[in-house]
Amino acid sequence: MTTTDDSTQKPPRKDPWELPDVSHLVVGVLGGTGDQGRGLAYRLARAGQRVIIGSRSAGRAAEAAGAIGHGVEGADNAECARRADIVIIAVPWEGHKPLLESLREDLAGKVVVDCVNPLGFDKKGAYALTPEEGSAAEQAAALLPGSRVTAAFHHLSAVLLQDPAVESIDTDVLVLGEARADTDLVQALAQRVTGMRGVFAGRLRNAHQVESLVANLISVNRRYKAHAGLRVTDV
Ligand SMILES: NC(=O)c1ccc[n+]([C@@H]2O[C@H](COP(=O)([O-])OP(=O)(O)OC[C@H]3O[C@@H](n4cnc5c(N)ncnc54)[C@H](OP(=O)(O)O)[C@@H]3O)[C@@H](O)[C@H]2O)c1
Repeated sequence: MTTTDDSTQKPPRKDPWELPDVSHLVVGVLGGTGDQGRGLAYRLARAGQRVIIGSRSAGRAAEAAGAIGHGVEGADNAECARRADIVIIAVPWEGHKPLLESLREDLAGKVVVDCVNPLGFDKKGAYALTPEEGSAAEQAAALLPGSRVTAAFHHLSAVLLQDPAVESIDTDVLVLGEARADTDLVQALAQRVTGMRGVFAGRLRNAHQVESLVANLISVNRRYKAHAGLRVTDV
């Protein structure tokens, strides 16, 4: 028997490529004076996004921002967090926990994007560390209960990001998080950069594999003298 009762019909499946407009949002980059932070700031600002880089020193941030150009501003990490709508964490794993603990209030209500890869290095190369919470992203979520924590931008080459001669960053960005509204936002942010595509890749409990894969990419880079990225096929 067929029915014409609309209440029994499921809502149409949302198109996963229908993403929000994020062009008006301010992006902050904590640890934005480092290679990854500078690279992301440069690419996003070059795409027209308003970007503030943070540092433990406001002076260092201002200097790095001036060098990046494209309207990038500098501030200390706390001010950067307060003034931004979306805040990317780009500090070394060693500094992750203390920094986030100190910025809990400043990051409340913000979309936080963790791109930290907890790695160790020895004479055999890079290897993945396993944080007590499971991953850097889950540590961030535990430390920042008032923030909307996501994880993304782990597999980018800071060398390519910072090279102005590279027109297109041809790679996929795996985006993880608990709320679709937040991961959609971060996917849209990734897609502001020419060549980049943001692909949803699950909840934060699966961030460990994504963070760890960087150890494999470092091995690829060493063998092939490359700046390897990632492409997910068939999506
Ligand atoms: N480099 C890459 O290609 C790449 C790619 C993907 C993801 N990542 C991830 O991105 C993060 C940053 O990488 P990076 O290569 O840019 O690192 P980095 O240059 O060593 O550090 C980034 C910035 O973090 C700040 N910092 C250093 N130690 C800190 C501490 N203990 N506490 C708070 N801030 C500290 C410094 O800025 P101030 O001294 O100005 O405060 C530094 O310029 C890492 O977690 C890495 O796993 C890197």
